[in-house]
This record gives sequence, C-alpha cells and structure tokens, in this order.
Amino acid sequence: MRYGYFDDSKREYVITDPRTPVKWINYVGTLAFGGFVDHTGGALICRQDPGLNRITKYIPQLPASEFKGETLYLRLRQGSGWRLFSPFFVPTLDPYERYECHVGLGYTRIVSEFYGIRTEVTIFVPQGDTRAIRDIRVTNVSGQAVEVDAIPVVEYTHPDALMQFTNADWVPQTMQSKLYAEASGLKVLTQYPFMSRETRVNYFTSNYPVSSFESDRRRFLGENEYGSWANPLSLRQAELSDYEALRGDNIAALLHHLGVIQPGETRRIATQLGQEESLAKALPAIQHYRQEEAVDQAFQELQRFWDTYLSRLQVQTPDADMDRMLNVHNPRQCYVTLNWSRYLSLYQLGLGSREMGYRDSAQDILGVLPSAPAEARALLCRLLQVQRQDGSAFHQFNPLTMVASEGDSREREDRPHYYSDDHLWAVLAVTAYLKETGDLAFLEEVLPYHEKDGQGRPLESGTVLDHMQRALAFTRRDCGAHGLPLLGFADWNDPVNLPTGAESLLTANLYGRALLEMIELARQRSDQEAAKAYEATYAEMKQRVSDLAWDGQWYIRYFDADGTPMGSHTNEAGQIYVEGQAWPVLSGFATPERAQMALESVRRLLNTRNGIVLSAPGYDGFDPRKGGVTTYPPGAKENGGIFLHTNPWIIIAETMVGNGDHAFEYYRQINPATRNDRIEEFECEPYVYPQNILGKEHPQFGLARNSWLTGTAAWVYCAATQHILGIQATYAGLRVAPCIPKEWDGFQVSRTFRGATYAITVKNPGHVCGGVKRVCVDGQEISGDVIPAFADGKTHQVEVILG
Ligand code: NOJ
Repeated sequence: MRYGYFDDSKREYVITDPRTPVKWINYVGTLAFGGFVDHTGGALICRQDPGLNRITKYIPQLPASEFKGETLYLRLRQGSGWRLFSPFFVPTLDPYERYECHVGLGYTRIVSEFYGIRTEVTIFVPQGDTRAIRDIRVTNVSGQAVEVDAIPVVEYTHPDALMQFTNADWVPQTMQSKLYAEASGLKVLTQYPFMSRETRVNYFTSNYPVSSFESDRRRFLGENEYGSWANPLSLRQAELSDYEALRGDNIAALLHHLGVIQPGETRRIATQLGQEESLAKALPAIQHYRQEEAVDQAFQELQRFWDTYLSRLQVQTPDADMDRMLNVHNPRQCYVTLNWSRYLSLYQLGLGSREMGYRDSAQDILGVLPSAPAEARALLCRLLQVQRQDGSAFHQFNPLTMVASEGDSREREDRPHYYSDDHLWAVLAVTAYLKETGDLAFLEEVLPYHEKDGQGRPLESGTVLDHMQRALAFTRRDCGAHGLPLLGFADWNDPVNLPTGAESLLTANLYGRALLEMIELARQRSDQEAAKAYEATYAEMKQRVSDLAWDGQWYIRYFDADGTPMGSHTNEAGQIYVEGQAWPVLSGFATPERAQMALESVRRLLNTRNGIVLSAPGYDGFDPRKGGVTTYPPGAKENGGIFLHTNPWIIIAETMVGNGDHAFEYYRQINPATRNDRIEEFECEPYVYPQNILGKEHPQFGLARNSWLTGTAAWVYCAATQHILGIQATYAGLRVAPCIPKEWDGFQVSRTFRGATYAITVKNPGHVCGGVKRVCVDGQEISGDVIPAFADGKTHQVEVILG
C-alpha cells in the first residue's frame, strides 16, 4: 500500500490518495504567523502563540472526514440547482478523478479533479507576513461550458484556544463578525471577540467580487445545524444571508460567482486569512496581495528562502533515501521544530499543558545551525532568559508572554519542581552555535535570569558565559547519596518520575558532555584555570559513574531514593535503557571495552527492524512509584516503545567506536522515506520523523505516531551529517571525519561554513569505515582533518581519502 511518492526534483512529497491512515500535514509560515495544513485542506492557523492567539478552529479528535478549520466548496450549475462538492475531498467526500496534495517547502498545493473541474489551490504564508494565502485556480477540463461558484470557508476559534473548549457560556457571547464592503464589490469580513475589537481583528477576504457572505455557522449549515459541513443547506440557495454575526460560532464564507467557464478556461482567485490590529491597518497590505503578481512574487520569495536555506548543506551518497531526507525533508523538519518546539501539531495541541520546551528547543537549535544561525541565536537568548538564578531552568515557556512554568512537575506537590537535564542542553546548544559561527562575542552578551521583582523587572542578569557556568554549577551542587546528579522531577525521559532523592545517570553523562564542551571552550578562550577546574570536575564524575553505574553488560539508568538501581539486570522490568547506553559514550565516561559491551547489549536486547526500543522489558501495570512511564502498556512510548529521539544517540555512539556499518544500519532502519512502500504498518507521513513507533512488545508493532515535532529531527540530522558523513563545525574550522559503511566507495557534500563553501569529495578506496588518510584543499595537501575557515565567499575543493 502506498499513498504517494517523493518528487525529488520539486522537493515535494505528493499524496495521491486522500484516504491516508491519519492526516498527513505540512507547516506554513512560522510561529510569528502560521500553523499547519492537512492534506485535505484543513488548517490550524495562529499568530505568535497557538494557545493565546489562535485563529482557526481545528479539532484533531474529530473524524478524518470532518471539516477542520478551513475548506473550499465549488458548485456547478445544473438546471435550477447545483452540484456541490469540495475539491479537497473533505468534507463532501465526492468521488474524484484525480487527487494530489503536494507537500512542499512552506506550501501545500492541492490539485484535484471532480466532475470535469480541475482545481489547484496553493496554500502558503508570504515570508515574514501575517496572512495565509490560498491561490485558487479553477479550470474546466470537461468538454462543456459550466457555470461555477466558489465558496471558501473559515471557521474561527476564540483566540484563547483552551477557553474555546472549556467555556461555552462566555465564548459564544463575545464572538462577532463585521463586513467591510468596498465600492469595487470586493469585501473583507472581519472577526474578533468583542474585547479585541479595537486591538486585534481577524479578516478573510479575496480578490474577486463577493456576491454574498455568511458569518454564522448555524445559518451556513442550516436548520439549526441539522444541515452539515458535508451538505451545508445554505449552499442550496442562490445567495448566502449576508449576516454579520453578533455571537455564536463565527465563520467566514464568501460566495463568488466565477461565471460560465468554457472548456480549457481557468479562473484564478486568491483568498487571504490574516490578523492585524485593525482593519484600517490591514487594508494596504490586503490590497497589495489582491494583485496576482504580488501573490506570485511572494511565492517565489518563499522558494528563494528555501533554496538558500537548503543550499548550506547538500549531500550525494550511495543511498537515495538518505539523500532525499538530508537534502530536503530532514532540514525542513528541523526548521519546523525550531519554530514550533513541541507546541502545535496534530498531537501536541497547544492548549496550555505544553508550551515551548526548554530542553526541546535547546536540542532543536542543533539541527538548524548550518542554515539558520541567526534564528538559533535568537532562540538561545530566549531560552537563557528562562534560566533561574541558581542555574537550573524552567521546563517550558510561553513564547508570547515569556512566562515560564515548571511543566508537569507542577502537578506533584511532593516532588521537585525542576528537571535535572533542562539547563545542560543549553550549554550544548551555545557551544554548537559558537563552533558553527565563530561568534565568541556572544559569550559576553548580557541576558537576564528569569526571577523578577514586583514590577516584573529581572532581579539579576549575567553574560551568556555566566549562564553556562551557573548551569554547570547547579548540577555540581545538586547531587544525591552516591554523588550523582539528583533526578529532579525527571530527566530527558519525562515520564520516569521517581520519589525525591533518586539519581540520574543520564544527567550525569549529559553533565560530562557539557563539561567537555566547557573545557574545550575555556581552552579556546585561553582560560587555562577554568579548563583545569572543569577537568577536575569531569574526572570526579567520570570516576563515580565508572565505580557505580556498570551493571556487568550495560550501564544502570537510575538509582532510586533508597539506592535501588533501575535499568539493571536485577530489575524485573526496565532492565536496560537505550539512552543509558548512548550517553556514557557521548560523555567519554565509558572505557572503550564498556562502550563496546553496552552497544552490543543494545543490539542484542533493544534493536528491532523498526528501530531501537527505549527499554526492555516493558512495565506491565501502573506503578505510582515509577510514575507516568507505567501509564503506557508495554511497547508504547517511553515504556519500551521505539522512542526515535534516542536512536540517533546510538548512531553517534556507534560512530564514536568506529562502527560505520552499525551506525548506517540504524540510520536507515528509521529513515521514514524507506517506509513509503510499506506504509500501512507505519501510518504516519513518510517525509518526516515521528516521535514514536510502537515497540516489539506491542501488538501493533511498527505503528508510528506524533510526527513532526520531535527531537529526532535535529539529532538524526546531526548524527547523519556530522557523525556518519562526519562534517563537523569546530572552533578551528570544518572537520571531516566520516564513519561510513565499509561498502561505500565514498560520497560528496557541499557545505557552507563561515562565509565559504566547501565542495567535499570523500573517497573510500580501501573500503574502511573511517580514518582520514589524506586531505587536499584546492589541490594542496593539509595536515590533520580540519579545513580552515576561509571566510572568503569562495568555493573550495576538498578531497578526503579514507584508509
Ligand atoms: C517528549 C518531550 O517533548 C521531550 O522533552 C522528552 O525528552 C521526551 N518526550 C522523552 O520523554
């Protein structure tokens, strides 16, 4: 079974059957204005914040066949009535002759044919703009002239997205719509909750005369809503009721008579859904985007953005699925996670409980550095302002208000209200940013800590370097009975919530990695004293981990408050955890022998054809002492599911022990593009990584969920480009240190780095995994594997011979 194909030349995935197992989505715009569009034209759009300023009402829990947020109806004159259908298949579900949803870079284009009418709708948000455009072309592909009406429809939500669902008293009494009619016959239908009338209005408009409109859902569907979205009774009438809603469920439906369309003829019409402080303020840009050339130009600009973005790193390897992911879809997913963190998707609903995640966004930054360093820096600044004065960090924050919160730990009075890992990820993100850009001045930038006085002024500020130092100092202080870092409410593995006093080996190793970064940075800054101090701390923690955490064949994952190990062969369930094996390698705490053994245990006990499961065996029953992890059945999510985020950590660890064959095997087995031809098991989009796949203990082994917003995107991108292909930004320049499958003859990479382009050819005549024998730059052999940062705007030819 297949639902579509990759069109590599257009950098699209094309869905050809709208009945995908779950909605397959795409993102348009950015967090500043945008959201997601599903493959049947439904859209969830918001401005700056999906929780506090949402525009369209999209309820993912409704059946796939239901209207969600936006659609388009067409009706064809037939005698005294009409044939009504949606070119998006949903919600009318008419039989189609052709259906294509082109999932593009920042746009979705739906091309369909129903009843002799071809409709092509391109949905996008112009760069930096606050409107979503739907560029609609209706072509008569039948042999006969036909009279066509087009009725695009939007359903609004209250901007406070949670309130829409929790308060059916206040919300409907406040929602209002008002029409603004222009002399030309063009119309703008505005919408707002009463209190925002003077400050923030949504608008829906088009560049074609509107003969009538509707803004009340009850009237549009008809008969007190015993009419339906599949069959809105108002569209059986010649005109809509021109009603300006004073309350209730607000929609915007605009009826356009496109007239009689001759065979072969096309009509083009573009709608705009946007938000501004006032209609007056919105009008100039509305008028601008009513011109077809302006729409075309905006679309080209979007394409140019993606051309540039992707041009920074392009690869050519012996594996076509790797190429299509690394050249297009993986960096694109990284940009989406940078924007939306874990805030808004089909699975993360932006309804209050989740916001921007501290650890999530810090890791997302790792995936965009070659292409969007400035955006990464801006997000880093926001993150560091969510750090506490004591060096720990709040777990999440609201992007609009910058109010931070303690995440799920709020729900447990008896537990710590911090996560032991959050603040450490930011150290990794800052150093990765510095290595990419060489912008060491960033370390001196002064940013506030989160605590405020009564007037909302920050109590204290510090340089970026100070923020980093405090992060390390926090973990150094915050240790438990064994001298290992306390778990806090949780570490990276969110739902393992142990009673206060538990210690985390993940945090110990993450701390080790962060210390290595600080040592390297201190040397770079010629601060030998700091380097020495961090080295001593590193050695101390390394000793503790190696004395306490080795279980015989793998590493222990936690110590409970009473000293009981978790992730040990002595446990009944949860004997081995995957992240517990990857991180001692990444931290450098593992000896080579233990690293090998730990990775062999992963292969033997956790690996499956669909990816490496997080832990085994699964916990079979709820256990409040272990927390959320035991709310899942064995094989689901963090309870022994394939939690993909961890897989690239193992890939990196394998490259660190020099095993390029295993690294690539693990890479390929989770590459979603390889599942396109057997998608019935996987179900999610084959063009992005999902967060989780059901593990081998679950009867539905192989079923993916929670696509798009996952740390998998950034980490797989890093694992593949920096560790398998081995192109690494360092303080001194661009390092080339591949660890590839032996059978590869080589590969090519084009990488832009600090203002120069490196055209790299790696040759593998001896069929080895790694080991650089010779590097030539522009025909000259250099010593070592680090190519200098030329910063001269030129392209440099680099040849690397392995052996
Ligand atoms: C998803 C969360 O967004 C992330 O922060 C966490 O580390 C993983 N789940 C693992 O629990």
